[in-house]
Amino acid sequence: MSELMVHMIRPTSDAVFYITSRTPQTPEAWEILETQTLTLSEAGTLLMLPTHVRGRAQWLTDARLMRDAGRKAFEAATKKDVAALEALNDELYQSCTQCHEHFRPGYGKRPPVDGARH
Ligand code: HEC
Repeated sequence: MSELMVHMIRPTSDAVFYITSRTPQTPEAWEILETQTLTLSEAGTLLMLPTHVRGRAQWLTDARLMRDAGRKAFEAATKKDVAALEALNDELYQSCTQCHEHFRPGYGKRPPVDGARH
């Protein structure tokens, strides 16, 4: 779980969270963003697999939120639509915090370590 978060979910979601300050400038950079957002969405699908599911119904709801936000981000990336990606920030952020509130041990009880605790 931790590996999925650190290696797949955090870096790919950061690409969406920082879309305005790190807007892709070349076709190649947009392609990377497409890959990242698709990976994020598919990581949501992975979270729904029996090997990863914790706590059933609530978990699936929370994972689906992230998958759907990732999917919309992917579609926006294929259109190079920065405004749409920016607009998706809240929905994506909420999908992280909602699941963390439900399932991440100690979430919200410790002070932020690096300011990047979504
Ligand atoms: C469906 C549930 C779920 C969703 C959605 C989710 N997470 Fe997590 N996340 C967890 C759980 C559970 C842990 C605790 C993992 C552990 O330590 O076992 C965690 C831990 C983390 C960690 C700490 C990992 C470590 O070991 O330091 C980071 C970073 C993280 N999540 C980022 C994100 C981001 C960013 C998003 C949204 C884009 C997100 N997560 C969405 C369930 C979720």
